[in-house]
Amino acid sequence: MISLLEKLTQAFGVSGNEEQVRDLICNEIKDYVDSYHVDALGNLIAVKKGSGRKIMLAAHMDEIGVMATHIDDKGFIRFTNIGGISPHIFVGQKVRFANGTCGAIFYEEKDADMKNLKFSKMYIDIGASSRAEAEKKVKTGDTACFLSNLTVQGEFAYSKAMDDRCGCAVLVELIRNLSQTSNELYFVFTVQEEVGLRGARTAAFQIVPDIAIAVDITRTGDTPEAELMEVQCGKGPAVKIKDSNIIAHPEVKRLLADCAGKNNIPFQYEVLERGGTDAGAIHITAGGIPSGALSIPCRYIHSPVECISLRDLENAVKILREAVKQA
Ligand code: CO
Ligand code: ZN
Repeated sequence: MISLLEKLTQAFGVSGNEEQVRDLICNEIKDYVDSYHVDALGNLIAVKKGSGRKIMLAAHMDEIGVMATHIDDKGFIRFTNIGGISPHIFVGQKVRFANGTCGAIFYEEKDADMKNLKFSKMYIDIGASSRAEAEKKVKTGDTACFLSNLTVQGEFAYSKAMDDRCGCAVLVELIRNLSQTSNELYFVFTVQEEVGLRGARTAAFQIVPDIAIAVDITRTGDTPEAELMEVQCGKGPAVKIKDSNIIAHPEVKRLLADCAGKNNIPFQYEVLERGGTDAGAIHITAGGIPSGALSIPCRYIHSPVECISLRDLENAVKILREAVKQA
């Protein structure tokens, strides 16, 4: 699973530009599903046919990043954020545009107010000496993601885009490990989660599943002076109870907890006070869909060093493999 996670996390896929990561996922799953298609907004929907209930599993393909807003006469690029990120996280980072162009992010040093650092005081340096030279590589509106390798150390792994290529890896692994299914399974790799759960909403409206489960990462409270949060990295996947956008449906919550409990797979419960995931959009679509989520605990969310436990990832696959049978 590590090499799959490496391919997925390293792929480019800032919200609205998910083509590269989508092509990669397509290649990984096409021989294992009955059908697949890309919908109008860009979601990848893969189906394993069955005669039972319709179950939708969703993981978002997009990642947070930056978008070029202006290029100055000297070739420096001004930018804005795509998704929720604080400017401090970007200081001293390298980013990569979809065409492979890399840049270094820094801030205006003179009169720098580090406490109130704003994107408007920062820039991307791609090594161009004029606007014309820069525009050969980057145009206004182009997006860039962090440049950050996957590093594995013991059971922990660090990379950009664990949010939510972890969820994508879990779904890909599940697709490859399930041969027969009595329920009809819809594996949905969604677009534009980070900018407002957009792809999941329209995908669920098309599919109208009987139940839906989002697979995403969640915050942890296990780092020095972290905000209070029960979830810990490495203590098992987290069955969502609540976040800012959803109170998980009791049926889905019970299903996930029972599948973990009965098979002696470690799990935790998640109450996330700020933030949400695709389930938030899915459950209030198409007349209402019983929905919940299984979360991979992740430290340093929306940074280049998002950190997860590989054991949690493998246990998420195990729980879902049971859940799609029992649902
Ligand atoms: Co996110
Ligand atoms: Zn996410």
